Amino acid sequence: MHKGKIRGVRITGLGKHLPERKLTNADLEKMVNTRDEWIVTRTGMKERYIAGPDEPTSSLSLQAARKALARAGVEPEQIDLIIVATVTPDMFFPSTACLVQAGLGAKNAAGFDLEAACPNFVYACAVGSQFIATGMYDCVLVIGADTLSKIINWEDRNTCVLFGDGAGAAVLQPCPDDRGFLSFSLGIDGSGGEFLKIPAGGSRCPASHESVERRLHTIHMNGPEVYKFAVRSMPDAAIDSLARAGMKTEDVDLLVPHQANLRIIEAARKRLGLPPEKVFVNIEKYGNISGASIPVALTEAEEQGLLKEGSIVVLTAFGAGYTWGACTLRW
Ligand SMILES: CC(C)(COP(=O)(O)OP(=O)(O)OC[C@H]1O[C@@H](n2cnc3c(N)ncnc32)[C@H](O)[C@@H]1OP(=O)(O)O)[C@@H](O)C(=O)NCCC(=O)NCCS
Repeated sequence: MHKGKIRGVRITGLGKHLPERKLTNADLEKMVNTRDEWIVTRTGMKERYIAGPDEPTSSLSLQAARKALARAGVEPEQIDLIIVATVTPDMFFPSTACLVQAGLGAKNAAGFDLEAACPNFVYACAVGSQFIATGMYDCVLVIGADTLSKIINWEDRNTCVLFGDGAGAAVLQPCPDDRGFLSFSLGIDGSGGEFLKIPAGGSRCPASHESVERRLHTIHMNGPEVYKFAVRSMPDAAIDSLARAGMKTEDVDLLVPHQANLRIIEAARKRLGLPPEKVFVNIEKYGNISGASIPVALTEAEEQGLLKEGSIVVLTAFGAGYTWGACTLRW
């Protein structure tokens, strides 16, 4: 067996939830010095959804989770483990997983939050799968959810046009046949940490009047540096994951990449030699919703009938840290 390869775990239900309020590029033109044409040509984004003041990550998570559970035919009491993968938890503690557990009434569940930036959903699937593969648990609820609008500097045009809010959830259960997760490829490189971060609010720079005045609790990003990393890491992770499953890019039926920038997705597609119809794109509707990006895309791919039984699906993502993660599934 290849290193990193596991068997016997598949996604049995998917669900997504987006907030009601839509923010278009035209709306952003009224907020900062930007243009619809710049945003569309540089990123592919046209609109994104923004959570309300009383809508934290846990509330988007709950709604996505309920839909995924319904599709899987699973009751909250059956859930053994809840993993909420997010960079925007409701609070430092309790974990967002605890809040979701209480909201669902999942009285038999353990749970925790996981933070690996935008590849969060892939990481959470990798972690959740281990519990099922070892036989410790039978039902794991994995949620990728973020409310990035809450940590954006809305006066910084370099970042505020890029992000949105949303949640996606998946139910993982044992699978006796050869479907499900075939392999994972995960990695981090902390030397890229400077290029995408929230400098304050943690133990290094606790909240103070000065940190708030200097907007240190918001996203700080060097876009071109992150771009260079992204176009390399997303296809590399996909290729490595495929190799671990004993496959090549020719075997891929559908690639579901992290939706951070259409140009990054296009560069990855070309590097992998895939035709456009094999790459799922919905960035125009949502912008970059971080950990929710892949589960929302996967849910939509299923709704559109693109996930056929037996088809080979690859998820791949990059993010702050740097982090990257990909996995190969037989649907
Ligand atoms: C951010 C990003 C879209 C910028 O695109 P780019 O082609 O690299 O553009 P640049 O950063 O070179 O900026 C070009 C110009 O546009 C300007 N600009 C930046 N944001 C703008 C906006 N919203 N509207 C109009 N102009 C903007 C810049 O100020 C710069 O102007 P200058 O040349 O006068 O200094 C791109 O670098 C990117 O997507 N990087 C990866 C970011 C990412 O994915 N982050 C999340 C990781 S999970």
